[in-house]
Amino acid sequence: MFCYSKSSFKVLSQVVLGIIVVGVLVHYAIYFNNRQILQIHSDILQTTPRQLRKGNWNIYQMSGITQNLSRNTSDSMLLGNSSKNTSSSALNIVNPHSFSYIINEPTACTAYTELIIGVITAVQNFDDRMAVRSTWGSKAAAGYNVTVVFILGAGQPNLQAQLMAESDKYHDIIQEDFVDSYRNLSIKSVALLKWVITYCNSSKYMLKADDDMYVNVQNLVQALRSESRTDFVMGHSFIGAKPVQNKNSKWYTPLEDFNEKVYPKYTSGTAYAMSTKASSLLYQASLEIKLFWLEDIYITGLCARRAGVSVVHNGGFNYQKLNASGCVFRKAITGHQYSAEEKLSIHTQVNDPKLKCL
Ligand SMILES: *[C@@H]1O[C@H](CO)[C@@H](O)[C@H](O)[C@H]1NC(C)=O
Ligand SMILES: *[C@@H]1O[C@H](CO)[C@@H](O)[C@H](O)[C@H]1NC(C)=O
Ligand SMILES: *[C@@H]1O[C@H](CO)[C@@H](O)[C@H](O)[C@H]1NC(C)=O
Ligand SMILES: *[C@@H]1O[C@H](CO)[C@@H](O)[C@H](O)[C@H]1NC(C)=O
Ligand SMILES: *[C@@H]1O[C@H](CO)[C@@H](O)[C@H](O)[C@H]1NC(C)=O
Ligand SMILES: *[C@@H]1O[C@H](CO)[C@@H](O)[C@H](O)[C@H]1NC(C)=O
Ligand SMILES: *[C@@H]1O[C@H](CO)[C@@H](O)[C@H](O)[C@H]1NC(C)=O
Ligand SMILES: *[C@@H]1O[C@H](CO)[C@@H](O)[C@H](O)[C@H]1NC(C)=O
Repeated sequence: MFCYSKSSFKVLSQVVLGIIVVGVLVHYAIYFNNRQILQIHSDILQTTPRQLRKGNWNIYQMSGITQNLSRNTSDSMLLGNSSKNTSSSALNIVNPHSFSYIINEPTACTAYTELIIGVITAVQNFDDRMAVRSTWGSKAAAGYNVTVVFILGAGQPNLQAQLMAESDKYHDIIQEDFVDSYRNLSIKSVALLKWVITYCNSSKYMLKADDDMYVNVQNLVQALRSESRTDFVMGHSFIGAKPVQNKNSKWYTPLEDFNEKVYPKYTSGTAYAMSTKASSLLYQASLEIKLFWLEDIYITGLCARRAGVSVVHNGGFNYQKLNASGCVFRKAITGHQYSAEEKLSIHTQVNDPKLKCL
């Protein structure tokens, strides 16, 4: 049917080769892009295997996407130029945290508290709070001077009386009057920072943890005590994550919310610890940085960068669900997504002297 001369065959084969090369490139571009999207919110998705973190980092390196995340690259973009004024007497407050307490426990923390734990919770999560109190949040089990408080916003007026009763019984509920919602999680974390520096500033460390976490408090305190820096945040850190620009994504982040190409290094928000001194610096920084709804990126990324607080990676902080077993938690610091029953089961096993682990 067709008849080619030798030279037209050569041209055709070059065209075909070109199409194949372009196809492969497009395929890889889509593949990498998907992996990046997965990685950015793997701490929310909870489905991403552990290896992705490392894998992605390599991809960023290979493609030269890794950027200089110097402290001054972006705060001015986010905040306007006036934020450059470092004089502390001239705070440029763009994010005042001026909420009132509905419930407060000003004396929950004592002069002996070494570690203050703020558990991020919602009004309806009664079972999770009970499970935390009777497992990793119980003072007796920890053997350290640890104080646990639960941080909430307002909502669900039909459950408020039940919450008040719980508060009367355990005296560990801190509730501010902002609207408690997923999009307001950053406000809840700022509320915790503010409470810690107002009522527990003599503690050495603080941990922020979600109410579906299991935490090995002993391992945590050991890790914190062996950190030599004074201003630090410790957790499972991510480097080189990028804002999601796909409008159909749950994590779509318009440029007016964040206009840099890459997020600063940050830790998973499922649980992160810090020196109480860092809490003070991060709270001050939060007042000057426009609120950003991704809580972990806001507090441990943007605020930490501004405040000059080091973000320290510790592989003991797991943002995914580990097997709910005692042996896993003899070694780990945190794991995520455990029901009340699983917390109890892990806790029983981890403290069982007869449990033999490899
Ligand atoms: C990072 O900064 C160094 C030194 O300031 C510079 O040599 C390098 O090109 C920068 N890298 C990028 C990706 O901008
Ligand atoms: C950061 O600021 C310093 C001084 O203001 C400047 O010399 C440096 O180039 C800036 N770095 C970047 C990456 O913008
Ligand atoms: C930022 O403010 C300073 C004065 O404090 C000014 O000299 C400089 O041009 C401003 N930069 C930008 C990008 O607006
Ligand atoms: C920085 O703050 C100081 C102290 O309040 C003030 O005198 C100065 O004008 C401010 N500079 C800028 C550029 O806003
Ligand atoms: C814990 O607090 C008690 C006082 O309640 C104190 O005697 C003890 O030394 C503290 N333990 C540690 C490890 O800080
Ligand atoms: C966040 O909290 C503020 C203060 O209570 C409230 O005005 C706002 O509607 C809340 N936003 C969402 C998305 O819940
Ligand atoms: C908390 O302690 C730090 C020193 O670690 C201090 O700079 C800060 O002013 C204190 N904050 C409050 C609210 O007392
Ligand atoms: C997970 O833990 C259970 C005990 O809680 C154990 O029976 C099971 O073998 C463990 N699975 C893995 C994959 O380690």
